[in-house]
Amino acid sequence: MPTNLESLNQASAGLASAEDQNRSSAESLLPPGSLNAPRRPEPVFSGLGQEKGSPPAAELISVSLSYRRGRQTTVVLSDINLSLYDRDFVCVLGPSGCGKTSLLNILAGYLTDIDGRILIAGHHHCGPDPKVGVVFQSPNLFPWLTAAKNIEFGLRMAGIPKAQRRQKVKNLLAMISLENSADLLPHQMSGGMRQRVAIARALALDSKVILLDEPFSALDALTREMMQQHIRNIWRQAGRCFFFITHDVQEALLLSTRLIVMSSAPGRIFSDLPNPLRQDPEVGFEALRADPRFPKLRTDLLEMIQGNSCII
Ligand SMILES: Nc1ncnc2c1ncn2[C@@H]1O[C@H](COP(=O)(O)OP(=O)(O)OP(=O)(O)O)[C@@H](O)[C@H]1O
Ligand SMILES: [Mg+2]
Repeated sequence: MPTNLESLNQASAGLASAEDQNRSSAESLLPPGSLNAPRRPEPVFSGLGQEKGSPPAAELISVSLSYRRGRQTTVVLSDINLSLYDRDFVCVLGPSGCGKTSLLNILAGYLTDIDGRILIAGHHHCGPDPKVGVVFQSPNLFPWLTAAKNIEFGLRMAGIPKAQRRQKVKNLLAMISLENSADLLPHQMSGGMRQRVAIARALALDSKVILLDEPFSALDALTREMMQQHIRNIWRQAGRCFFFITHDVQEALLLSTRLIVMSSAPGRIFSDLPNPLRQDPEVGFEALRADPRFPKLRTDLLEMIQGNSCII
């Protein structure tokens, strides 16, 4: 009987393109193994959109995070090695408390008291930086500014000339399908509209990586489905790396090009795989859900996450 991880790997390998198969051994899929034996993580996956010769959008090298209280030290993240590439849509799954948000905060430059190194586009990263955009669960828009002005805010702070700002805001409003809502204030928008404006704001400054921490978890099911369609289209147009934390395995299978599963206590990268359903971006969600591998992958991922949870 193959283990869940093996069957996930097999499903993934079955779909591997010639490009995948040509990858070096360091970039190959996980070797079949036991669920109880987390592998030592390597930067294993080469994003399909990375320009040859350019550094990854982001790299974490031997990153660990601990908190000290009195004499007791709790290791939250241990030896995280990760390379994120342009046009990756990375979905991060893992049990509650395994350190997903901590990892995102490290990438955002909000948590700096860590061991290890972080590089953004090859440069040392030591604090909040316009090269990293962040979208939170709650959109956090300025309530007194319109949709357009919220998107424009960072560009204005960066001293971008007015004509350029206008053009950029216009393009971004089109990208999030809110061309006709430029003048609405946040309280005049729906939750989904506010979240789209927050995404456009994160994209405005040509960031290399967009970090999203469960951005749709506060939305109702219908709005969430609509937002999943939007985010996929936005990602395709934006050409950036999206690092997207979710608890929703189906959402991860529909959106990602790459799936990362974390284990807890301490938080580690347990599995890092190309999404076996990653294929022609024209294939819609209905077709993905109808794929005969979808239910099995969903179950396998859920078991992988549950098998890696433990109370800290
Ligand atoms: N400031 C802090 N001091 C001490 N421990 C902390 C601090 N911030 C986070 N932690 C601990 O770090 C661990 C990871 O927290 P984190 O929020 O990153 O988990 P998570 O995977 O995002 O969880 P969830 O899925 O519930 O959002 C938790 O055990 C948490 O208690
Ligand atoms: Mg979290």
